Formats: sequence, C-alpha cells, structure tokens
Amino acid sequence: MTQSLTIRRPDDWHLHLRDGAMLAGVLPESARDFARAIVMPNLVPPVVTGAEAAAYRDRILAALPEGARFAPLMTLYLTERTDPEDVARAHAAGLVTAVKLYPAGATTNSASGVTDFDKVRGVLDRMAEIGCPLCVHGEVVDPEIDIFDREAVFIDRVLDPIRRAVPGLKVVMEHITTADGVDYVRSAEAGLGATITTHHLIITRNHILVGGIKPHYYCLPVAKRARHRDALVAAATSGDARFFLGTDSAPHADPAKECACGCAGVFSATNTLSCLAEVFERAGALDRLEAFTSLNGPAFYGLPPNDDRITLIRGAAPVAYPARIETGAGPVTLFDPGFDLHWRVAR
Ligand code: DOR
Ligand code: ZN
Repeated sequence: MTQSLTIRRPDDWHLHLRDGAMLAGVLPESARDFARAIVMPNLVPPVVTGAEAAAYRDRILAALPEGARFAPLMTLYLTERTDPEDVARAHAAGLVTAVKLYPAGATTNSASGVTDFDKVRGVLDRMAEIGCPLCVHGEVVDPEIDIFDREAVFIDRVLDPIRRAVPGLKVVMEHITTADGVDYVRSAEAGLGATITTHHLIITRNHILVGGIKPHYYCLPVAKRARHRDALVAAATSGDARFFLGTDSAPHADPAKECACGCAGVFSATNTLSCLAEVFERAGALDRLEAFTSLNGPAFYGLPPNDDRITLIRGAAPVAYPARIETGAGPVTLFDPGFDLHWRVAR
C-alpha cells in the first residue's frame, strides 16, 4: 500500500474567506495547504467593482500569517448593474480572475444576484472577448422546483441557453452535486469545467437528515442521493481535466448553523486534503489526486501549476483533527467525513 504521496501544491478553485475576524480565523487554515484560491465575493455587501476587489484582496493579504505564501485570486459578484468595462479593466490588471454569477436568492448573501439574465448579456459578451471565466452557482430559485432538482433544471433553463448565446464564454459550473452536472460537463465541447467540493464527494442527503437533522452537513447546493455522490467521485477520480477541486469551504459561526433557520455552508479547509486522499485511495485512484487538486484547475484557468510540492503521508493511526476551530467571530465546526482519516500533509 502507498504510504506517501508527493504532489504539486494544491489550489482551491472555490473558497469563502469572509472578512474581519472570521477572515483572520479561517485564512490560515487554507494558506497552510493551498497556494492559491478563487475567493468568493459574497460578502455583505458583495464585492461588485474592481475597486472593491482590490480593497478586499488587501485585507486578505494583511490577514495572512507571517511567512505564508498564498495568493488570493479575486472574483467580482455579477449584478444587473455591473459595468463591462470595469470588469475588463480589473481583469486586464490581473486583479480579478473570474466573475461569479449567483441567481438572486439562490444562497447565502445572493440577494444582489441576477434575476434577468438578458440584463447581464453585455458583461458576458465582454468577458468572452477578454477570456474572463464565469463561475456559476447553478441552481434555479423557482419556488415550484424541488430543491433536489434545482441544479438539473438550471442546466436546461439557464446554463445551456447562456452558453449557446455567448459561445466563447469560459464557464465553471461551481460545486456540482448531480450526475446531471457531470454529464453536462462531459458533453460540452470546450470552455466548460466544474469544481467539485470535498464534502460532496463524501456525503449524501442521508447524512443531513437521517437520525436527526445535522446542520453542519447542510450546504447549497444541498447534497443529493448516493447515485449522484458516486457520479461525482467517478468524475473527480477519472483524471478528466474538466473536473477540479473547489472546496466551497464556507465558514459560519456555530450559532448561525445550529438554530431554527441555519445557514448553508460546510467548513472543510482544515482537513480537505486528508479527506480527499481517503476518497481517492478508496477509489483506487491516488495517482489521479494531483490532477484533481493541482493540475486541472490551473490548466482550465490558463495558469501554471505550482512549482512546489506537498507530501501526504499515510499513518496507521487516524489523524486527529479538532471538532471546531476558534475564531474571533466564534467557533466554526470542521467538516466531519464520518470515517477515520489516515492521510496527513507532512509539515
Ligand atoms: O453552502 C453554501 N454556502 N453555498 C453557497 O453557495 C454559499 C456558501 C456561503 O457563502 O456560506
Ligand atoms: Zn460557494
């Protein structure tokens, strides 16, 4: 059995870092293992303009622990008032790596998102021209649509029409949770990729609902049935360059999750690589872990992979992680995969 695995340093292609005391608390957890991360813009208020992204990037860099090497790749939050030229300037300056589309009301802090997709057409056309990718939260918000079907319906109603209308646009389907998402990405000719989270490779909806409601497994898109989880594992472990890691690690202080109307989000930055090594090992695909965590994402974004490497070591005894981390914004419970973790990153 493989006891150690050296791979290029991973990147996280979908991460929530928040701001202020929460940022200070969670940033070291990502900076420890990851070289770069696509940083989500759903702050309150959201990061909409190039100037706001510059200020947010400065706050992230200021919050980095001494000696950390971590590059935040900034995104802009697409609104119906977004100025295509502001996006183009921020992208040309290297300040902004991608633009994020949240359907209005789809998830945490998405109230300023898009309702009328025709109103963002000018921005999408400009992004296609300049090669700026669109990261998509792929769920419809139609109250008639069952929450477990919202991703599949989004593909037909919104994503496919957008991709047909703006054929040159590079699109990342963020945090896919269904076999439908996997199939759609596989069917695309070019210019479409997908991130997959750590937790969606592990949990199903049973984890959330069986034996009592488990708020720390609740996120959006919500985890689906096992058949979908298994399709995600097959995609991630296949080596297919269109699938790459985006943890969607999304911290909320415990009281905001453990209540009558708990927030969506799973915090997995701390133990993601241990979890992934376990998933890939079980799938007999440890040799493809590096593609998923460290190669496919940069290739999609047109960036070089990281030069430095990390080594994962398999120990006989399970690795002990804390149940939660303490931050200045309160305790944040760490994702519990529900099985022992044997792999850890050598320090
Ligand atoms: O579970 C989620 N949490 N899904 C999202 O799309 C947003 C995120 C958050 O910001 O907490
Ligand atoms: Zn997210």
